[in-house]
Amino acid sequence: MSSVPLTAYRSKMIHNDVIRSAAVLDPVRTTIRPYRATDLRDIYEISVRTAEAGGDARGIYCDDDLMPDLFAGPYLHLEPELAFVLDDGGRAVGYVLGTADTPRFVQAYRRVWIPRLTPKYPAPPPTSTTRDEQAFALHHDPERLLVPELRDYPAHLHINVLPSYQGGGHGRGLIDVFLDALATRGVPALHITPLTVNASALAFYYRYGFHDIPVADPGLTSYLGIRTPSR
Ligand SMILES: CC(C)(COP(=O)(O)OP(=O)(O)OC[C@H]1O[C@@H](n2cnc3c(N)ncnc32)[C@H](O)[C@@H]1OP(=O)(O)O)[C@@H](O)C(=O)NCCC(=O)NCCS
Repeated sequence: MSSVPLTAYRSKMIHNDVIRSAAVLDPVRTTIRPYRATDLRDIYEISVRTAEAGGDARGIYCDDDLMPDLFAGPYLHLEPELAFVLDDGGRAVGYVLGTADTPRFVQAYRRVWIPRLTPKYPAPPPTSTTRDEQAFALHHDPERLLVPELRDYPAHLHINVLPSYQGGGHGRGLIDVFLDALATRGVPALHITPLTVNASALAFYYRYGFHDIPVADPGLTSYLGIRTPSR
């Protein structure tokens, strides 16, 4: 896939001056392109800087790679062809990544990703109390992603843009590219599971056109879905 120039999605609402200057200062060179293995460290950096319900998670966990190891690394390892980056002309400053098939991803996570990281992230005690233990518990329970009500929305994604690039239409562009890639593969629909406390992300998703998916026991999570564009 070729890069998508920012000009294709530039005329979007801008929230404040910091964001405007980031988007407007470099409007032409910013592109969305497929992930390359050399983007890995940039993606980990973006991930941890936006992992605390959209805010900076650096210094919160035992290892700054913990959140990226849960929410970015496995997708890059298992489905790198479904990862796309926002490139400012020098490095990745945002990304979208995910899976076309959540049940298949869960199986691969258990088979490949857990053994790969288990020395680093041990199985937690039965009742997790610390934030590290809670994160380890997520790592050791990929089956939590298998929610019956999401059956008709097999794909899911994670999207993260560095703060100085937010609000310039890049998130919309990244979702466009991801949905197109799913449609090309014949995937009918996608779900996402943002924390309900992440009001800004929820506003973005609703604005984009996602709808709520009723789920019996949502807990602290919101469940949203969208169909892929028809071909
Ligand atoms: C959520 C995120 C990906 C959105 O990307 P973005 O580049 O900031 O969003 P865009 O500028 O493309 O916004 C697209 C549309 O959503 C709207 N929107 C975005 N954020 C909004 C907000 N907080 N409130 C209201 N509307 C919002 C925009 O106005 C725009 O509308 P328009 O296209 O009709 O003009 C980005 O802010 C981000 O990475 N946040 C931190 C990480 C995160 O929370 N990720 C999601 C975890 S579930």
